[in-house]
Amino acid sequence: MPLKNTKKTSGLWSSRFKEPVAELVKQYTSSVDFDKHLANYDIIGSQAHARMLASQQIISQRDLSSIESGLKQIQNEINNGAFEWSIEEEDVHLNIEKRLIEISGDPGKKLHTARSRNDQVATDIRLYLRDSIENTALKVHELQIAILKLAEAHKKTIMPGFTHLQVAQPISFGHHLMAYFEMLKRDKERLLDCQKRTNSLPLGAAALAGTSYPIDRQKVARELGFERICANSIDAVSDRDFVIEYLSVAAIAMMHLSRFSEEIIIWMNPGFDFVTLPDRLCTGSSIMPQKKNPDVPELVRGKTGRVNGNLIALLTIMKAQPLAYNKDNQEDKEPLFDTVNTLLMSLIVFKELIEGLTVNPDKMETATKTGHVTATDLADYLVKRGIAFREAHEVVANVVSYAEDLKIELAEVPLEKLQEFCPTIEDNVSYSLSIAESLNSRNHIGGTSPQQVELAIGLAKKELEEFPT
Ligand code: ARG
Repeated sequence: MPLKNTKKTSGLWSSRFKEPVAELVKQYTSSVDFDKHLANYDIIGSQAHARMLASQQIISQRDLSSIESGLKQIQNEINNGAFEWSIEEEDVHLNIEKRLIEISGDPGKKLHTARSRNDQVATDIRLYLRDSIENTALKVHELQIAILKLAEAHKKTIMPGFTHLQVAQPISFGHHLMAYFEMLKRDKERLLDCQKRTNSLPLGAAALAGTSYPIDRQKVARELGFERICANSIDAVSDRDFVIEYLSVAAIAMMHLSRFSEEIIIWMNPGFDFVTLPDRLCTGSSIMPQKKNPDVPELVRGKTGRVNGNLIALLTIMKAQPLAYNKDNQEDKEPLFDTVNTLLMSLIVFKELIEGLTVNPDKMETATKTGHVTATDLADYLVKRGIAFREAHEVVANVVSYAEDLKIELAEVPLEKLQEFCPTIEDNVSYSLSIAESLNSRNHIGGTSPQQVELAIGLAKKELEEFPT
């Protein structure tokens, strides 16, 4: 039998309050505008909770059926845009609960038994993040495939490798691309690792101390696909480490994309002209008709700033909070949603960039012929003829200085002149000074010789096949 006077007066949290919450405070404290993004997860969590309550005989089967059909209806209303969200109900959880009570009456009022919004929201975020991690890992994986394909086509394409953005040594463009493959591989590993700590069930912790009802947390965990249960109820409602972990993993991944973006931007500069992007992936200028700008990689680079900011936001939100739940935690959602969306979109658009890239091997090779790119090879040549590396280094430095004065390349210095610098040099030196030989000679695991690049690509292919999708 419903009790008298249990109907909540509009605008009051409960009968404990003597006046309604001020309009300004409602607006300030409400989160529904953004946490409605969690609606689907909130419903899934409520369904599992209600089923557990019924199987533990905390509510009746009839109550359960009514709750289940009410939640289904709400899900439909949300999906087809008919659901009316209101800041009167503060957040996604209260909006859905209020609508459930409208639809199913008294049974709806029982759904919140043995539960608090504190363990409810923690559960919702974990469910959301679990899916988001999977989506992100998949997009990383797809980008890896695109990079691998390009690397395979360019294992023999020669480009200047840079340190300090100065020509350093010749490398295979495929090898250079595979460096990004490696970064993304670690990103994917980190994602799947933080997935483990995300996949833990907070529900059952209630407000902070647990609940006096005979709940079955294992059942809820099984139903929601959680690998484990949060072991401490206080930690369960206050922990946001898993969000911070994701945000840091995402920041690292964006940093990788940002570095790659920077290179594409440099390579697209006419001074380099190593690559071109199709018009569909570029934008123009409103004043300079000749311009074709790399806005997409520039934006990826720029958005890295937001993603870094979101990580710092969460660390700062959490840093001084006493246990257990505090409303500060409500601030976790916008940075998280923003990072998930930004990283996903950046990965998707980046794959397009890689697939759309036209490589200009001639320009790359021409650029390799500047900067005395085989200077190290000459030093190594001397070392192999018994000269100590430091001495060889000095001899080559003198040759380079001579070549610089004449404005010629090291490889163009005549043999007789080389022999003046060091009599040990023989005519087979030209072989060592050739760019192709420079590449071929770096033939060890992780080296840039086309043979090693091919091996690395083969291994990478296997790794991709093993990815659990
Ligand atoms: N909207 C809240 C949040 O995001 C839900 C939890 C509210 N709990 C509370 N005790 N006020 O954190």
